[in-house]
Amino acid sequence: MSRLDLSTRDEQLRELMDDPDCDPQRLQATLRRFGLVNRLISGWDLIYRRRLRSLLTSFDRPARVLDLGSGGGDVLTRLAQLAAADGITVEWTGADPDPRAHESALRRAQPGITFRCADAEELISGGESFDLVLSNHVLHHLDADELRQFTAASQQLSSGTVLHADIARGRLAYGLYAVAITPVAPGTFLRTDGLRSIRRSYQRAELAAALGPDWEVSSPAPFRLLAQGPGRG
Ligand SMILES: C[S@@+](CC[C@H](N)C(=O)[O-])C[C@H]1O[C@@H](n2cnc3c(N)ncnc32)[C@H](O)[C@@H]1O
Repeated sequence: MSRLDLSTRDEQLRELMDDPDCDPQRLQATLRRFGLVNRLISGWDLIYRRRLRSLLTSFDRPARVLDLGSGGGDVLTRLAQLAAADGITVEWTGADPDPRAHESALRRAQPGITFRCADAEELISGGESFDLVLSNHVLHHLDADELRQFTAASQQLSSGTVLHADIARGRLAYGLYAVAITPVAPGTFLRTDGLRSIRRSYQRAELAAALGPDWEVSSPAPFRLLAQGPGRG
């Protein structure tokens, strides 16, 4: 058997959940279980404590935060929970153009958290503006043109900061994920799509080169990348 080559991004691999005709039950189960998986691997609790908390309290009014490509909505609701525990009031918005993801996110809607079925361009043409725009696990889904459009749109939508979090491609991440995801994967796309995601993901220097000098790419936690850029809105 040939050894898996992770030396370059495999941009040709398509994730099962990106197929509009994929099994709807498995997709909904996957989106629901992202709550657990993102909590364990995405590092947003750490990002909240190290970067977001101080940003959110730097206004004399509730900050307006957008999660672009919010999927099942769990990252946004987790951040809302952390801010509420610190007594910080925030207007949270999640936006995703995929109606299947939107339907799943609506189950997590609650006072202070709004989910919109819209992409970045629709929000821009609607004149929307936010103090902070973030995303999780969107960048690796995009090709080079889409990456440029998505990140430029995220900057246009923010008058403050933009944060895009994603996976860092690597053999150890791949091996550990393959083992750790197995017990929670049945009935979902988590195993296949997670491993494909790692193969599609960037390494730190690659992402920095793809994004250009506006962006600072760091590794806030093991196997994670965080791109921070200035808003232009
Ligand atoms: C793997 S999902 C990530 C979902 C969620 N952020 C998470 O971490 O679980 C990527 C999402 O990005 C969304 N997306 C892709 N292009 C987008 C765009 N231009 N504007 C907003 N969302 C987009 C897709 O519809 C998809 O739901």
